[in-house]
Amino acid sequence: MPEISIAPSMLCADFRRLGEQAREVAEAGAQWLHFDVMDGWFVDAISFGPLVIEALRGETELHCNAHLMVGNPTKHIESFARAGADSLFVQRETLTQPAHVLAHIRSLGLLAGLVFNPATPVAGLETIADQLDLVLLMTVEPGTAGQEFMASVLPKIRQTRELLEEFNPEARIAVDGGVDPNTAPELVAAGAEILICGSYLFEHPEGLSAGIESLREAVSGGG
Ligand code: DX5
Ligand code: ZN
Repeated sequence: MPEISIAPSMLCADFRRLGEQAREVAEAGAQWLHFDVMDGWFVDAISFGPLVIEALRGETELHCNAHLMVGNPTKHIESFARAGADSLFVQRETLTQPAHVLAHIRSLGLLAGLVFNPATPVAGLETIADQLDLVLLMTVEPGTAGQEFMASVLPKIRQTRELLEEFNPEARIAVDGGVDPNTAPELVAAGAEILICGSYLFEHPEGLSAGIESLREAVSGGG
């Protein structure tokens, strides 16, 4: 069974105490911190940029992953690298030459990931599969947390898994949107290894640690 990483989405954290929440997430056993960067253009909302990642970088040893939901990601790659991000996700929809952008990210020593919105096909991914480390399949439309998981993306996750098995077995699949203990088992069965999760964890009635624990249990039950 592949190793599953849990990636709490800091968009759903309490912004008044981000450092504390980053430490809490690490203590609770999560592997990644996921940062949703939104520019008010690619998506309507505006969230935060590299300064926030830089500030939190000093609070935790966790892998810091930035999801660039911005119209012109190419312009910002170096500033996220300087901020200390360990990996960058760029949206396929924003790129005419994804291979160049992925190579740029890798050249700065970061893991390079490509994101596909629910309606964006992964056709052609085989031609650049060896140039990426991560693929993120959105299971909601990007832009806001707390949306309902789209089960219609499951076949695309399986398709991506098969394609990566052939063209880059090292690459890992992440999923983002509506992840919780009900949806996570089918996501993992389809081939997801990195579970990005916002509302479920940060709104858990028994707290963040209990949320991470129940998500972990849901995917380690075997089967
Ligand atoms: C959606 C973001 C997600 C979001 C996930 O645009 O990319 O990372 O925070 O939130 P939940 O888990 O609530 O769907
Ligand atoms: Zn995200």
